[in-house]
Amino acid sequence: MTPFHLHNKTILVTGASSGIGQQIAKSICEMGGNVIITGRNNDRLQSTFNNLKGTNNKIVADLLNKNELNELIDQLPALDGIVHCAGLVQPFPIKFLSEEKINETFLTNYNIQVLLMAAITRQKKINKNASIVFISSISAAHPHKGGALYSGSKAAIESFSKVVALEFYPLSIRSNCIAPAMVKTPMYEYAEKGASKETLDEHVKKYPLGVGTVEDVANTAIFLLSDASKWITGTIITLDGGFLLGGI
Ligand SMILES: NC(=O)c1ccc[n+]([C@@H]2O[C@H](COP(=O)([O-])OP(=O)(O)OC[C@H]3O[C@@H](n4cnc5c(N)ncnc54)[C@H](OP(=O)(O)O)[C@@H]3O)[C@@H](O)[C@H]2O)c1
Repeated sequence: MTPFHLHNKTILVTGASSGIGQQIAKSICEMGGNVIITGRNNDRLQSTFNNLKGTNNKIVADLLNKNELNELIDQLPALDGIVHCAGLVQPFPIKFLSEEKINETFLTNYNIQVLLMAAITRQKKINKNASIVFISSISAAHPHKGGALYSGSKAAIESFSKVVALEFYPLSIRSNCIAPAMVKTPMYEYAEKGASKETLDEHVKKYPLGVGTVEDVANTAIFLLSDASKWITGTIITLDGGFLLGGI
């Protein structure tokens, strides 16, 4: 059988009520895996759930709420994979930054992932040979104007992923990041509102292969979750349609 399949794997997907997480959950099920999906918005999470093949579970939780996080962890079975897709983008020029805004971005893009990993580990709910996937961004290594909070939070999660790789290798548990450039999702549409049409059109022209789709990210997540990537840990896979080549 192909090593890319996900049969007999149970995988937690956060941020599954929208965008990248929603597609990753769907693709995991198409590759034979089972998912536990989580997100805050019940209606959108239910709509993800309705489109999944096989036996799956759905748990609504605001992961910034300690009680809801703990209730989620209590309900989880032992996992063969986790895909951390919950995230937030808040572009602000430096003069508008405040402690409150730093906290909003870092709590969602860093603390949630770290606290989830800590609690799951304490409850011994990660199986041997599991694969952990974090969704970073090219902004971590290639910051942009207005990206102080987002770039910083993604750089922090990339470092954390490497620490997970180092601490968990004795159980053959792997940890990797996917760092996409622009992907068409509701988050992209939110970022779109902060830029003029001309600026955005100019930006999109710099992608030799066009901007990304949620399927592009999901296919990479499937590879990292599957045994086909069993020799890969502590890495960051960039998905950018050639944007960082900078030749256009
Ligand atoms: N789109 C891009 O261009 C792009 C590029 C690079 C990296 N990324 C990264 O990819 C990941 C997914 O992005 P996306 O574009 O799919 O975003 P999205 O469509 O806005 O989805 C964000 C998801 O995060 C969940 N979430 C946010 N705060 C949460 C909280 N406190 N508790 C639980 N869930 C929470 C949302 O849940 P609810 O909707 O239920 O509230 C939603 O499911 C993010 O980490 C993002 O930084 C995106």
